[in-house]
Amino acid sequence: MVNGTKHFGLMSRQDWGHPQPGTVLWLLGPTSAGKTTLAMRVVADLRRHGVPAIIFDGDEVRGFFGADLGFGADSRLRVVSVLVHLANKAADAGLHVVVAALTAGQDARQYVRENVTNLTIGYVACSVQTCAQRDPKGLYRKAMSGEIDTLIGYNSEYRPPADPDLVLDTEAHSVDELAARIVASYIRN
Ligand SMILES: Nc1ncnc2c1ncn2[C@@H]1O[C@H](COP(=O)(O)OP(=O)(O)OP(=O)(O)O)[C@@H](O)[C@H]1O
Ligand SMILES: [Mg+2]
Repeated sequence: MVNGTKHFGLMSRQDWGHPQPGTVLWLLGPTSAGKTTLAMRVVADLRRHGVPAIIFDGDEVRGFFGADLGFGADSRLRVVSVLVHLANKAADAGLHVVVAALTAGQDARQYVRENVTNLTIGYVACSVQTCAQRDPKGLYRKAMSGEIDTLIGYNSEYRPPADPDLVLDTEAHSVDELAARIVASYIRN
């Protein structure tokens, strides 16, 4: 502890000087809803406008842990807690962060709400039927054939969040429309 601040072996935040903190847009929704597509587009467009932005994707964190990480509630919460840590650090350094992650569990959502500063939660909404038709990773196909039994949205229900700040319906709106709406909110602020 330095000046009463938990610092994980690093200098305390007080020693670094404070840039203007960034924001965190947390995109959650079922598999194939369009989270990664939308997040990448928003970050690219923000950068084109000179707004410093970064994406953290659930798949990226999962890939880092590799096959050691399963699909139970604890493993999923572990992915979310790493994303929360990365998002807060990047926002603290002045970046606008976009997170793309399933975030299906109530415990995970509550953890995000309680631990992320400057947070906007965007629910990337898409019916399971359309998600299953898109299925770029073939996960719904695998679930339907019984090859996997851990797909939330097929093997168990994906419950929409009760209190999202934004609803981004990818069946009703194109990536262009949704990205433009999000980017405009950053440029105005
Ligand atoms: N309006 C839209 N917004 C975003 N993606 C869309 C939209 N319409 C169609 N898609 C398509 O949906 C597919 C799934 O998108 P994506 O991989 O971004 O989903 P995801 O939510 O990140 O899924 P996962 O949880 O598996 O990572 C892509 O092929 C994408 O092009
Ligand atoms: Mg994705």
